[in-house]
Amino acid sequence: MADLHRIRPAEAADVAFLAEVTIAATRAQGRLPADFDEATWQTGFEEWSRESIDDPATDLYVVEVGNRSVGRLRVSRTADAVELNGIQLHPDVQNRGIGTAIITDLKDEAARRGVPLRLHVERDNPDARRLYDRLGFVKIGEDGAEDVLRWSKDVEQNRIWNAEVAERYDTPGTGAFADDVLGPTVERLAELAGTGHALEFAIGTGRVAVPLSERGVPVSGIELSTAMLEQLRTKADEDTIPVVAGDMATARVPGEFTLVYLVYNTIANLLTQEEQVACFRNAARHLSPGGRFVIELWVPELRRLPPGTPATVGVADPGYILLDTYDVLRQHVVSHHFHFGEGTEAQLFRTPHRYIWPAELDLMAQLAGFTLESRHADWTGSPFTADSPSHVSVYRLPTA
Ligand SMILES: C[S@@+](CC[C@H](N)C(=O)[O-])C[C@H]1O[C@@H](n2cnc3c(N)ncnc32)[C@H](O)[C@@H]1O
Repeated sequence: MADLHRIRPAEAADVAFLAEVTIAATRAQGRLPADFDEATWQTGFEEWSRESIDDPATDLYVVEVGNRSVGRLRVSRTADAVELNGIQLHPDVQNRGIGTAIITDLKDEAARRGVPLRLHVERDNPDARRLYDRLGFVKIGEDGAEDVLRWSKDVEQNRIWNAEVAERYDTPGTGAFADDVLGPTVERLAELAGTGHALEFAIGTGRVAVPLSERGVPVSGIELSTAMLEQLRTKADEDTIPVVAGDMATARVPGEFTLVYLVYNTIANLLTQEEQVACFRNAARHLSPGGRFVIELWVPELRRLPPGTPATVGVADPGYILLDTYDVLRQHVVSHHFHFGEGTEAQLFRTPHRYIWPAELDLMAQLAGFTLESRHADWTGSPFTADSPSHVSVYRLPTA
């Protein structure tokens, strides 16, 4: 868990600190040149900081822990990107998760706005580069002695749902592909679509869309991962199941639908409340009057989380362990899937989620003009109770 920190806009009185913390951080990385003239550099940096404070094109911040100033942050926001221009933390607050937390907030901001987060990193700064690699940034170019890195939601989803994962995703006849799972899912969705068209948000490899289409319901999709989409294309062509490559919170699919569905917990792949609300609004935008939006989602398992324990073991089978780590302030849970054999090696696959209580989901639906028509514990219509681990919720638009 990161140290509690806050950021506040820098003021003229901060400029000496901003220079000092930048020198301290650079020195700790061993990156100050041998002939570094500290006094001259400090004067110049203070002057530049004063100009930055007055510059409407950039935001300069002081990072604080308690009452102590511990860092400098500079961000520029344009119509098409969030730019992280600089982050320096005092050496004695480094490696406590503060940098990660600040960058994660900037990623959320970029995802909410539907723009990338970009930054430059010096090639002689491997520590910073490692952090950015871990946070999912990819190199998109070079600028002098610096690499230009970029993070965006589609890069992130393509990293998670990559070619290897996509190839292993389908497990015909077992797990989520078992007949007793898929059969009732497809039957219920066909019943809800009626004689109209269905749209699947995050269609993936077509686990549900392919049998639903074969059942006679015309299905379209939205999908962010090219690798998952390629797998779908081995089973159904563009004429049979048209798919728009894009973000289910914003992408528009031609046509009008009686049913939009988002199953297998996938609304939680949107990591901010704003994007989840936007997803409801996007569903509403695609539906004809009286149309339905169906969500299949697990109930957050916070009752399994004793105070002070940030993780739960969901599965501990031979060959597979599922560990969920929680950040309850952000409503985030990261599922860590460990697959292993007899030896000492393990493969790790991680998916981050923003978990949602049924009540919050209903409120999101309400904001988009829906009302809850039904909620069951599964696709066969079992009653939803306080102990149900997940739910199938059907939201409906007004008929007129
Ligand atoms: C658990 S899979 C579910 C796939 C399919 N719906 C199913 O039931 O098998 C999650 C899928 O969501 C996709 N995804 C995640 N975020 C997305 C977004 N914002 N827009 C569109 N697709 C997204 C991923 O690429 C992945 O294919």
